[in-house]
Amino acid sequence: MIFLIGEGFLGQKIVSVFKEKGIKVVTAGIQGKENYSLDITDEQSLIYLFKDLNPDIVLLSAGITNVELCEADQQKALDVNVEGTRNVVDVCHAFDSKLVFFSSDYVFGGNKGSYTEKDEVNPINFYGQTKVQGEKLVMNLSNHLIARVSTLYGFNSNEDKSFFSFAMQKLKNNESIEAVNIVNSPTLTDDVAEAVFLMLEKDFLGLFHVAGSNGCSKYDLLVKACKVFGFDSSLVKEVSWVPGWKAKRPLNSSLDITKIQLHGIKMSSVEEGLIKIKKQINK
Ligand SMILES: NC(=O)c1ccc[n+]([C@@H]2O[C@H](COP(=O)([O-])OP(=O)(O)OC[C@H]3O[C@@H](n4cnc5c(N)ncnc54)[C@H](OP(=O)(O)O)[C@@H]3O)[C@@H](O)[C@H]2O)c1
Repeated sequence: MIFLIGEGFLGQKIVSVFKEKGIKVVTAGIQGKENYSLDITDEQSLIYLFKDLNPDIVLLSAGITNVELCEADQQKALDVNVEGTRNVVDVCHAFDSKLVFFSSDYVFGGNKGSYTEKDEVNPINFYGQTKVQGEKLVMNLSNHLIARVSTLYGFNSNEDKSFFSFAMQKLKNNESIEAVNIVNSPTLTDDVAEAVFLMLEKDFLGLFHVAGSNGCSKYDLLVKACKVFGFDSSLVKEVSWVPGWKAKRPLNSSLDITKIQLHGIKMSSVEEGLIKIKKQINK
């Protein structure tokens, strides 16, 4: 049985992609939107749920993902992203469950881009530090898979709270939006879900970059989205920094995905990803 912890932007997509394939995913999240309510910082609740569910596979997509919040409230970021991950690792060890952990391009410093799985990590903000610590904890389990993703975009529903959905709504309403020209590897959530499905099917283990096939910035992503969706691209204003940001950002944290491609997994370019989203919205 597959147990997903974290019913956020990516978690919801994984549930729907797996459902289309006839695979039920039992979910838990802090708000208990679907099946169970769970705070990963509460080890006793985790043990209690694992006793009940005894999952074969655990997908951990829960965490504090807001980079500025992690910088401002480092204790909370540590509690959830590090100690919460430690709790999940411990129960997976005790119950012999495989753990799939989602990490980030922000484990890198951003000086060179096209980072491979062999490159040394060098986080420059607190969020990145917590993801590195999370990865190290997960690596203690022999039966683990780590998927490093980058800026996620995709479509679940019109209620999405993601950066991408917010921007698309503004552009649709003919309102301008600022977007940074910092480069990473925008990643379609559907591709992450499909890749995880295949990696589980083939029993992959270890660390993989599971990201979009071309590096670009949020600015480039939104300009391309305007072309695909017929919005006015002059509404997208290119900026190099957002006033008020306290956390440093890697300037180019794009991910090399050769390893996963050599394993036969296809990841979309931004252009392909946007066209897929358009088809989903028009359905
Ligand atoms: N989004 C990106 O662009 C991006 C880029 C690189 C890597 N990642 C990684 O990908 C993974 C999924 O990201 P996402 O975009 O789906 O994030 P998300 O939408 O913020 O989802 C994270 C979920 O974790 C929940 N959560 C927070 N604290 C929790 C706790 N103590 N116990 C249980 N659940 C808790 C959140 O609930 P609330 O919303 O109610 O707080 C939220 O539902 C994360 O590991 C993230 O680090 C994301």
